[in-house]
Amino acid sequence: MAKDQIISAIDVGTTKVCTITANVGYGGGLQVLGVGVTPSRGLHKGLVVNIPEAKQCIRESVRKAEQASGLKIDSAYVGVTGRHISSLNNRGVVAIPRGDRLVRPDDLRRVLHTARTVAIPNDRKLLHVIPRGYTLDGQVGVKNPVGMHGFRLDVETHIVTAAVASVQNLVKCIRGVGVDIEDLILEPLASGEAVLRPDERETGVVLADIGGGTTDVALFRDGNIWHTSILPVAGYQITRDIAIGLGLPFEVAEELKKRHGSMMPIYDAKEDASTIKVEDGYSVSYRDLCDIIRARVDEILRLIALEIPGDDPLREVPSGLVLTGGSSNLTGIATLGQEVLSMPVRVGVPTGVYGIADVLPDPAYATSVGLLLWATSRQEGEQGWRSRGLGEAFRRFVFRMRKAVAR
Ligand SMILES: Nc1ncnc2c1ncn2[C@@H]1O[C@H](COP(=O)(O)OP(=O)(O)OP(=O)(O)O)[C@@H](O)[C@H]1O
Ligand SMILES: [Mg+2]
Repeated sequence: MAKDQIISAIDVGTTKVCTITANVGYGGGLQVLGVGVTPSRGLHKGLVVNIPEAKQCIRESVRKAEQASGLKIDSAYVGVTGRHISSLNNRGVVAIPRGDRLVRPDDLRRVLHTARTVAIPNDRKLLHVIPRGYTLDGQVGVKNPVGMHGFRLDVETHIVTAAVASVQNLVKCIRGVGVDIEDLILEPLASGEAVLRPDERETGVVLADIGGGTTDVALFRDGNIWHTSILPVAGYQITRDIAIGLGLPFEVAEELKKRHGSMMPIYDAKEDASTIKVEDGYSVSYRDLCDIIRARVDEILRLIALEIPGDDPLREVPSGLVLTGGSSNLTGIATLGQEVLSMPVRVGVPTGVYGIADVLPDPAYATSVGLLLWATSRQEGEQGWRSRGLGEAFRRFVFRMRKAVAR
């Protein structure tokens, strides 16, 4: 990537829309120049359900980021999530036909092309074809075969598809506010960029972004993506449980959750027996509040664990679970996760940016920051599993393909 290039990302979440404009310095450092956050409207469980409303809040978010940075946003990297996302793993194989048997970037393009020739229904579009690992003449676990010699090159890929209609609705909203789409990126992949450490990806880790409408799950192993899944339950359901369970309006329940929500009243004897007075004359038992929240979070954690294959989760993901997304701000969520799942659990806060980024070191912004990190590391072509072995030609090919999806 050229020195001092300006890029932008728009994270259209169920709860908030966040636009960030950043300057990519030499070496890929990201200096945030402007952030625009607005509450979401017109979205449900990660999907656009009301185009005019969604467009309006995307416009507000983009305008705020433009005002903060003093720069016009013409194009942006955009996150995609929702139940319509599905993924599968597929293999591809090609022969290395030339006399020197040297693997070249073009061979990677060919082998990835064969891997993506799976039957995809007309109503679905390819979002990502991610190489998980190469095998060269039976030698498994080759991370970058370019420059190596062999006769037969196999690739294992993770293929992510999305419902055309859902993507089109999102694209329509973004284009409708005068912003072109650079790339559509699956949200848990972006969040992973912002909160996971390289050693965690290498040994095996599950990332769960518990947002407002969806919990986005991605499993990484050997430095590569292994599995992705979007669960339609998150912070909204926690608040709804509080509202129904304690007979409160939704907004009061939401505020109560954010201000006082905790997993562990048992460890907090003083607070445990107390009553919380809420605005508008409501008062609730602290223990009841925490019991309701804990029951739903317990369920979400178990649903996340179901995404880990095999009988022994710790063998599959020795680095355990990294929680992020706004709902991972709940006090004690990592401790509850460790108790319920018997594995290491930590909360991941986005890192990797500097500048005017005061609000960003919060799990709620993992996707927003991750979209930018994804974009830069992809274009730098140096680091990260997705760029490893991806020739420039293939990157351009994927880029064009995504633009086609966007149309
Ligand atoms: N301090 C907090 N304690 C508990 N929950 C919180 C806190 N802060 C935010 N949340 C919850 O986090 C959720 C929003 O998270 P986030 O901003 O990651 O979602 P989103 O990206 O808008 O939605 P999604 O990714 O699901 O489409 C809301 O349900 C909100 O109630
Ligand atoms: Mg989100």
